[in-house]
Amino acid sequence: MSSPTIKLNTGADIPIIGLGTWQSKPEEVISAVEYAIKEAGYRHIDCAWNYHNEKEVGEGIRKSGVPREEIFLTTKVWPSHYDDVAKALDTSVKNFGLDYVDLLLLHWPIALNPKGNHPIFPTRPNGSRDVILDWPLKDTWKQMEELLKSGKVKAIGVSNASELKLNEILPHATVVPAVNQLELHLYNHNPELVEFCQSRGIAVQAYSPLGSTNSPLLKDETAAAIATKYGLQVSDVLIGYLVAKNIIVLPKSVTHSRILSNIKGSLAAAKNLTKEDIEQLDAIEANGKHVRVVTPPWGCPLGFKDWI
Ligand SMILES: NC(=O)c1ccc[n+]([C@@H]2O[C@H](COP(=O)([O-])OP(=O)(O)OC[C@H]3O[C@@H](n4cnc5c(N)ncnc54)[C@H](OP(=O)(O)O)[C@@H]3O)[C@@H](O)[C@H]2O)c1
Repeated sequence: MSSPTIKLNTGADIPIIGLGTWQSKPEEVISAVEYAIKEAGYRHIDCAWNYHNEKEVGEGIRKSGVPREEIFLTTKVWPSHYDDVAKALDTSVKNFGLDYVDLLLLHWPIALNPKGNHPIFPTRPNGSRDVILDWPLKDTWKQMEELLKSGKVKAIGVSNASELKLNEILPHATVVPAVNQLELHLYNHNPELVEFCQSRGIAVQAYSPLGSTNSPLLKDETAAAIATKYGLQVSDVLIGYLVAKNIIVLPKSVTHSRILSNIKGSLAAAKNLTKEDIEQLDAIEANGKHVRVVTPPWGCPLGFKDWI
């Protein structure tokens, strides 16, 4: 089993399904990554500095025995490091124990005070997050562009960027972001933003495709009926629904059987789903089901239609 790929605007191929690693504990993630690559056919791993498991993800990659160049590895710069993304990249590459990453994303399109009272979540005296409201994101993007010359990263992109936030970068960019990684799933499918990105050559990645931990999506009746029709699991339909829209999907699991079904079953689902199935799935969210599961209290405008 190996996943089909999508071409990024850099010319590189990215496997359409990648293993998510947020909340994968260091002691679990080595085996998850090794199994995903060696046994389940994954060639794409999504990580981030702030998942605190880059070292173990690197170990899992090495233990798989699959050559590094066959694997697509993403990591993300945390917003308190937007003053020096080169240093952040160096730290991540060292953590992985590798020479380079394939994709580096700005984790959130806001900057946290790099000289604040906490290295990850600095706060103001009133307890709110110490976001620098007038931080010029375009300058951080310029630093990202410079990194491409270092050989330590092959492509650069953004995450959690609405059209509003993308427009702080795009008019000044020499390099168009290769990717925008967004919360996208059955209950938050945001077709306008997906279309905006894809029409500009920015590949879209879906995070929390299953609705994250303890998800109501896995009990969705429409998705369940479609899954039964094809002899598949609901999770397969949830992931396959996004794959069918040419969206790169990043399901997280540390459970071997799920890691396997999340690639095998979902690719089968993507092939089976008809136009009518997809229309039925598209209609669910508007029927009072909208949910956004990842909403850190940044306390500043993000520009999403449901999260201004
Ligand atoms: N850029 C960002 O800001 C951002 C934000 C959130 C996530 N992400 C990325 O996207 C990835 C995925 O998002 P996520 O971790 O929030 O959530 P998710 O992939 O939607 O869901 C993960 C949860 O579903 C369970 N699960 C996995 N496969 C399953 C299956 N087949 N059947 C039933 N349950 C299943 C997992 O449990 P087990 O692990 O116990 O099997 C885990 O509890 C992250 O890991 C991360 O790489 C990025």
